[in-house]
Amino acid sequence: MICWITVKLRHKSYRTIVCNTTYNMRIDIVASAAELKQERVKGKNVAVIDVLRATTVITTALMNGAKEIIPTEEVSTAFEIYSKYHSGEALLGGERNAVRIEGFHLANSPFEYMEDVVHHKTIILTTTNGTRALMGSLTANNIIVASFLNATAIATWLGEQDIDSTIVCAGSAEIYTLEDALCAGMIAKIMEERFGATLSDFAFTLKFLYEGYEGNIMSALTHCQHAQLLLSKGFRSDVEYCLQKDITDIIPRLNEGAITIER
Ligand code: MLT
Repeated sequence: MICWITVKLRHKSYRTIVCNTTYNMRIDIVASAAELKQERVKGKNVAVIDVLRATTVITTALMNGAKEIIPTEEVSTAFEIYSKYHSGEALLGGERNAVRIEGFHLANSPFEYMEDVVHHKTIILTTTNGTRALMGSLTANNIIVASFLNATAIATWLGEQDIDSTIVCAGSAEIYTLEDALCAGMIAKIMEERFGATLSDFAFTLKFLYEGYEGNIMSALTHCQHAQLLLSKGFRSDVEYCLQKDITDIIPRLNEGAITIER
């Protein structure tokens, strides 16, 4: 980066000098939605991750032609937003305790968001942690939606923007979850290697964590509490789907209340 600074010399004369500074963008990672503080996201580019399953579902719905996703924290707000649409235009999706909410069309399995169901539809989505992490990041400069499905594309987009970024892991039940941490570590690793980004201590830690599982993300499953919960409820294929890396390069972006494809 080239900058000009004016220095005051002795005898009150001034001189402008050109200097060449190298500034590396910084990557920070927030461990869970419960730990989200505004100073960590305000004015930054923010990538929100909820691998199991909200951000994977959002990405899948957009890949399959959904018009937009409207995230909302409360079930009552979701019903309120839905009531403003004409019949057939919108669908209510999401979960509480990993299962469909009464009166909703869809739960939170990516397999429910296939093309024949979501094409051209607005999806109003509320989940326990994922939509909370998204809504908690609203003071960011840009908010994009990340998962293993599009991790390399997300790292590339953030790297090309060349401003400080924060990766917000949604976590589960107020705490850190391993699957979100591994995905954040993957993004941090790519940003450091390809764009020379400087990693915060936690981002540095998660990069190493990811490297330990890089060849076999599935082997981390036994330590993932939320994955174990989903497995116990019969969602094995969901978990396997959510752990696939780089099956798309779309960038879902939250702008003015709706998530659409940025590119
Ligand atoms: C969440 O937002 O907490 C998750 O997406 C829960 C789930 O697995 O459905």
